[in-house]
Amino acid sequence: MNADLNALHPYPFEKLAALKASLTPPAGLTHIPLTIGEPQHAPYQGALDALIAHQLEMARYPATNGLPALRDTIAAWATQRFGLAGLDAERQVLPVNGTREAIFAFVQAALDRTRPASVAVPNPFYQIYEGATLLAGGEPLYLDCTAENGFRPDFSAVSADTWRDVQIVFICSPGNPTGAVTPLAEFKQLIALADEHDFIIASDECYSELYLDENTPPPGLLQACAELGRDDYRRCVVFHSLSKRSNLPGLRSGFVAGDADLLAPFKRYRTYHGCAMSLPLQHASIAAWQDEAHVRANRDAYREKFSAVTDVLAPVMDFPTPEASFYLWPAVPGGDDIAFTQRLFSEQHVSVLPGSLMGRPGQNGLNPGAGRLRLALVAELEPTLEAAKRLRQLVERG
Ligand SMILES: Cc1ncc(COP(=O)(O)O)c(C=O)c1O
Repeated sequence: MNADLNALHPYPFEKLAALKASLTPPAGLTHIPLTIGEPQHAPYQGALDALIAHQLEMARYPATNGLPALRDTIAAWATQRFGLAGLDAERQVLPVNGTREAIFAFVQAALDRTRPASVAVPNPFYQIYEGATLLAGGEPLYLDCTAENGFRPDFSAVSADTWRDVQIVFICSPGNPTGAVTPLAEFKQLIALADEHDFIIASDECYSELYLDENTPPPGLLQACAELGRDDYRRCVVFHSLSKRSNLPGLRSGFVAGDADLLAPFKRYRTYHGCAMSLPLQHASIAAWQDEAHVRANRDAYREKFSAVTDVLAPVMDFPTPEASFYLWPAVPGGDDIAFTQRLFSEQHVSVLPGSLMGRPGQNGLNPGAGRLRLALVAELEPTLEAAKRLRQLVERG
């Protein structure tokens, strides 16, 4: 077997299961998981209807680049959402089966193994960035996201020597687990660095539609390109998904858009990989990208939940106010995120993800995820609020 598989870290949820294996939670309390980022709000019905209406198209093979109608819909959505001059639906858009597989596959296609290959990832981070890098024969470069730097990597601190081997920089904005949003000015600075040091910017924007201030949608990398007049989106690709926006994580649908010179070889890779999206799923995706009312309703539901949970937790825990995403990233009183997670499970029957499981020792040898928890506010309001109250009780118990 491929020896690089041995370099992969166990997934955070595997580590969490091991931490909880010997614990016995109170039988009288129902279990409330705040662990997996799987939306529990109702999926967009229009997409489900389209899926059924087109079910007989299961009888046909789909093409790797998807239906023109899907690519046109995506191009129109992204153009409108990010104020682009335009997006060439034929060359600058590619439907994918969710951002997870696309992120993984993109790194396999993009990394040049004939020279040293490092991939910069935010730390803590979504583990696929790291796994994709290791399996492509590259080396992750962990860039710490701490309270001091607003939970965003400080690219200005990376030396020219280090940049030399960097082939891809991953941005996660809005961020998992921190909810931090990369401002437009920072995207533009990073684009200048990409030109100077010749790397690709891969911007994972799968949480971009879940923002808390209805008047301030998070900016995106292509938007920064547009403002710079960089309409070929050179060196830039973005990853978007219906999983969070439309509560359709099981549909496995998203897209990659940006630099046509990167998307052409990526498409070639995918043709051999054999991961074209099935036709009924493509029709469901068209329906979902064409409707914004359900996304607004989704944001309203998250807003209500964030506000209620913040009222309960803010008096006893310190956390950045997330601009977007569905995560809270509180500091643990006492600083031991593992011990706190275990106590929370065994005393209150609530599961959370210890922050240290999402990070690696970073620039100063410390894990920037340590001492924090990731709370995924994905359940409906009532159980989420109940979990927040139990969490508070534990903090107050000391
Ligand atoms: C940061 C980030 N990127 C990508 C994904 C993958 O999402 P999907 O493959 O459902 O689009 C997730 C899922 O939780 C995520 O948190």
